[in-house]
Amino acid sequence: MQNLNPSNPISPADQPFPEFACACADRVNRKLARFLPAETSLPRRLHEAMRYATFNGGKRVRPLLVYAAGIAAGGALEAMDRAACAVELIHSYSLVHDDLPAMDDDDLRRGKPTCHRAYDEATAILVGDALQSMAFELLCEGDGTDLERRLAMVRILARASGSRGMAGGQALDIDAVGRSMTLPELENMHIHKTGALIRASIQLGALSAGAGEELLRPLDRYAKAVGLAFQVQDDILDVVADTHTLGKTRGKDEAANKPTYTSLLGLEGAREKAAELLDEALEALSGFGPEAGHLRELARYVVERSH
Ligand code: IPE
Ligand code: IPE
Ligand code: MG
Ligand code: MG
Ligand code: MG
Repeated sequence: MQNLNPSNPISPADQPFPEFACACADRVNRKLARFLPAETSLPRRLHEAMRYATFNGGKRVRPLLVYAAGIAAGGALEAMDRAACAVELIHSYSLVHDDLPAMDDDDLRRGKPTCHRAYDEATAILVGDALQSMAFELLCEGDGTDLERRLAMVRILARASGSRGMAGGQALDIDAVGRSMTLPELENMHIHKTGALIRASIQLGALSAGAGEELLRPLDRYAKAVGLAFQVQDDILDVVADTHTLGKTRGKDEAANKPTYTSLLGLEGAREKAAELLDEALEALSGFGPEAGHLRELARYVVERSH
């Protein structure tokens, strides 16, 4: 039934998913705008470029995962804000570096010139460095969570971002250019370069909400499936979408002779893989009730998204 009393707003858990997703994206954008240093503060060019790289039409999927996991664990959005900002800052940093000439050498990101194109390479490197540091600063400063839990969250994000997580996955990606990979090797690369941060997003959301082991375990199973599905769909979109819709140059993987899910399994095989992972993600949530509704919708969105 429609809620007509504005003093009694619908709780985020009961909102229809599209509304919840928009509200979360707005929310994390507002928080990020507040946390990031002002463009007028020194060094101005770096601070301006940090905002350029953060506010440029990203889908905010990882913050959404943080909020949705927190809600599945019975938390309030306020408790998840710092974690939501932290994962998006790490993600935005990873994209700035991913696009650098020494890596994927891309000109377009989120529909705009990449950071090193709009500014310069040295600034883009520093933007990545500074966004990464800021993510950890935010997690450390949070109040309302006990110290031990906060330390666990810092450790989870550090591990997911480093050589045993995203940065390690990026190293495997660079090593793979121009050579063939087995399916397990490809999967291992994807699990690290994209899966690790998605997994951390779910863990941080749940921990911010005070979740214990009994919730963290199934949520982690969900996160592993969704994390892999996300990169499978990224590979599919690199083949089937157009540059305008994607907001990044289409066909980059093939042009760079990179092994991807589509190059190894074919388009249909990759789609089947994404569908299997969606089933796995939904199955992992079978012990949850409607409080995990947004996580279920998010898993569907990840494999059905068009950009
Ligand atoms: C793109 O991530 C890079 C990958 C890790 C596959 P997203 O598709 O989440 O990019 P934005 O944040 O919406 O631009
Ligand atoms: C990027 O993977 C993964 C990270 C930034 C960690 P891709 O190189 O496939 O991402 P896009 O396609 O450029 O967004
Ligand atoms: Mg890359
Ligand atoms: Mg790239
Ligand atoms: Mg890609």
